[in-house]
Amino acid sequence: MTPVNRSRRQFLRGLADLAGATAAAELALLAGPAAAQQGMHAPQLAAPNVPLVNPVTLARFVDPLPIPPVAKPAGQRAHPAYPGKSLPYYRMAMRAFRAPLHRDLPPTPLWGYEGMFPGPTLVATSGQPLLVEWINALPEHHFLPIDHHVHGAERDQPSVRTVTHVHGARAPAASDGYPEAWFVPGRSALYHYPNGQDAATLWYHDHAMGITRLNIYAGLIGAYLVRDEAEQALGLPSGDRDLPLVLCDRLIGRDGQLYYPVSDDPQAPWVSECHGNAILCNGKLYPYLEVEPRRYRLRLLNAANTRFYELSLSSGQPLVQVASDQGLLAAPLPRQRVTLYPAERAEVVVDFAGMDGKRVQLRQQSEAIMEFRVRDRGRRDTGALPAALRPVERLDPAGAVRERVLALGERDDAGGNPMMMMLGGRHWSAPVTEDPRQGSVEIWSMVNLTGDAHPMHLHLVRFQVLDRRPFDLFAWNATRALKYTGPAQPPPPEEMGWKDTVRADPGMVTRIIARFEGEPGRYVWHCHLLEHEDNEMMRPFLLRPA
Ligand code: C2O
Ligand code: CU
Ligand code: CU
Repeated sequence: MTPVNRSRRQFLRGLADLAGATAAAELALLAGPAAAQQGMHAPQLAAPNVPLVNPVTLARFVDPLPIPPVAKPAGQRAHPAYPGKSLPYYRMAMRAFRAPLHRDLPPTPLWGYEGMFPGPTLVATSGQPLLVEWINALPEHHFLPIDHHVHGAERDQPSVRTVTHVHGARAPAASDGYPEAWFVPGRSALYHYPNGQDAATLWYHDHAMGITRLNIYAGLIGAYLVRDEAEQALGLPSGDRDLPLVLCDRLIGRDGQLYYPVSDDPQAPWVSECHGNAILCNGKLYPYLEVEPRRYRLRLLNAANTRFYELSLSSGQPLVQVASDQGLLAAPLPRQRVTLYPAERAEVVVDFAGMDGKRVQLRQQSEAIMEFRVRDRGRRDTGALPAALRPVERLDPAGAVRERVLALGERDDAGGNPMMMMLGGRHWSAPVTEDPRQGSVEIWSMVNLTGDAHPMHLHLVRFQVLDRRPFDLFAWNATRALKYTGPAQPPPPEEMGWKDTVRADPGMVTRIIARFEGEPGRYVWHCHLLEHEDNEMMRPFLLRPA
């Protein structure tokens, strides 16, 4: 690793993260995960040298909420993995385009799948494979600042590189979007998705080594829905009352442009987090949606680089959660607030019955970010939400063949760049250490040594959260001993379903359990704070044949 001269502030912050034992971190531990994330976000970045949009003065709710169109296949094709079958074949081209983020802003230069942000929604049926040709039709130069010190983004690498990953898909390794499997403008990759999994809200996004944070920030995201028979038979809201709500924040200039923050060290522009000044819903600022006095199924997705969202309705009515990352909960769960860390999803049902003429706002913390306007069209729901959705069979920890203890934010013994946050003290490029056997059940214990919560994601598999337990950081730092300082806390009801991304709180050991089903090959696991993921908080894992 080349030693790089990070700015002093960043350097200190890096040390704090690595030691996890600064006063701020300790306070944060006392105050819980939410405070930890907010509290650690003292401004540390050089603000972009441009006037930013002031969200307070922007007109609210003047643009209709865009609903990304459902992608249509370009035809049918055969594929060697599915002999004798003809599969739907989609073409998804990544293009540069301009679109206004708000009525009163000039159009914003963006990158998007099929020239849209978010891209078209791919809709799959469980058990029915499909093909997607991901096409890089982007320009030759990136419009966001690349840090060439970041691994995989060195100066000799092409500036524009993309590879698409379907987050939450049980896809074979060669179609999973391995970060190093990127390709340049003018190239494409044909991926196949078996869709051998339960109904869930998945999403696709770029995953190119060292610049994922920039490619996603530029707009390379979209929803990927899997439906299945049992889920369709539940009578949940459907058609135009079933829609993705993709949330992300961006730093938006008054000129309409996106700004990505850089540190005050021009030699190393990488920043450890990126918070926007305004939140986009399906690519618009403060949009509205006309709804009927009926039930709606909203598929909430946090597609932000860093920020977590705490969502609620201004009317005080509950968001009734029916699904988490990997599909249906056992039963509908009414919640006053839904918290989503980056990459997490929650499907919620909202009932506007009896609210004709009313306006209801969706809030992120206390800020209204979108408005529902209830208008009667003479149609009503019949029936009720089902009381039971799908049983979630708990995986038995006794059936695990292995428990891996994995430190989050540990630095390697050889020194190296103090700003890096690593997994298990290893760089991305170190040999594979996590190598579960196909079909086996494993427990992964993630020991968070930093002062921040990290949303940890595994490709390929769905998992269950076992528990979170406080541990003695000083004992760990001294002898690598895992000493618990309190009882294990079971997951709350919203985390009792299937997940693919889990919040690892500071000061806690977060344990998950998974059955490693899928095709043998090389996949990845990583923190889904995109700034961390790009700077070494990502590791390969190898699924070994049974
Ligand atoms: Cu959402 Cu490795 O991805
Ligand atoms: Cu993923
Ligand atoms: Cu992280």
